[in-house]
Amino acid sequence: MKFFVDTAEVADIRSLVELGMVDGVTTNPSLIAKSGRKMSEVIAEICAITPGPVSAEVTATDFDGMLAEGRYLREIAPNVCVKVPLTEAGLRTCKALAEDGTLVNVTLCFSPGQAILAAKAGAAFISPFVGRLDDIGQDGMELIADIVQIYANYPQFKTEVLVASIRHPIHLIQSAKLGAHVATLPPNVIRQLLNHPLTDKGLAAFLADWKKTGQSIL
Ligand code: G3P
Repeated sequence: MKFFVDTAEVADIRSLVELGMVDGVTTNPSLIAKSGRKMSEVIAEICAITPGPVSAEVTATDFDGMLAEGRYLREIAPNVCVKVPLTEAGLRTCKALAEDGTLVNVTLCFSPGQAILAAKAGAAFISPFVGRLDDIGQDGMELIADIVQIYANYPQFKTEVLVASIRHPIHLIQSAKLGAHVATLPPNVIRQLLNHPLTDKGLAAFLADWKKTGQSIL
C-alpha cells in the first residue's frame, strides 16, 4: 500500500520522507492556503523532496481554464500529478491531460458512479473522501469497498483508489484490509499509527531492567 502525505507543510513531508513513509504527497487549495505560501513555489519544493507523485489542484471551474492551469502545473516538476474536481469540466480535463501522459488525480469523489466515470476518463487516481461522508452520517468505508470491488471487475481500469479525507488510524487500517492502492494521510495520523502506550511502557521497563545490569552494549 502506498502512503501519500496530505499536507503542504514542507518540514512535515521532509521528516516523514526520512522515516520512509512517503510515496507521494497530496495538496488542495485549503492546504496551500494554510501553508501561507505561493503555490508554484511550495509545489516545486515538495516535488524536489518527494519520491513520487505530488498532487497540485486546479482552481478554475471551466474546461479551458482547468486545462491551462493543469498544463502550467505539470511544468513545475516531472512528478506533478494534476488534481481536478469530479465535475463534467474536471473529467474532460482529466481525459485531455491523461491523453498527453499526465498523471491526473480526480478529487471530491463521493459515489461509486463518480469513480467509474473517473476511471473511464483515464484518471491515474480517484480520491474518495471517507471522513467527509462520515461527517454527514454516511459510511465512508463502504464507498471504498464499492470502488475497490468495481475496479477489480475491470482490469482495463488502471485508476488507483486513493483514500482521502482520512481522519484516524482506523480509516487507514480498513482501507488496507479492503486493498485500496493508496491512502493519503495527514501527518498526525501517521504519528497516531506509530505510537502505542504499551510500546512506551514496554520500552521503559526494558531500559530500567537493563540499567540494573550495569552493562553497556558498546
Ligand atoms: O486532500 C483532500 C482530503 O484529504 C481532505 O481531507 O479532512 O479536509 O476532509 P479533509
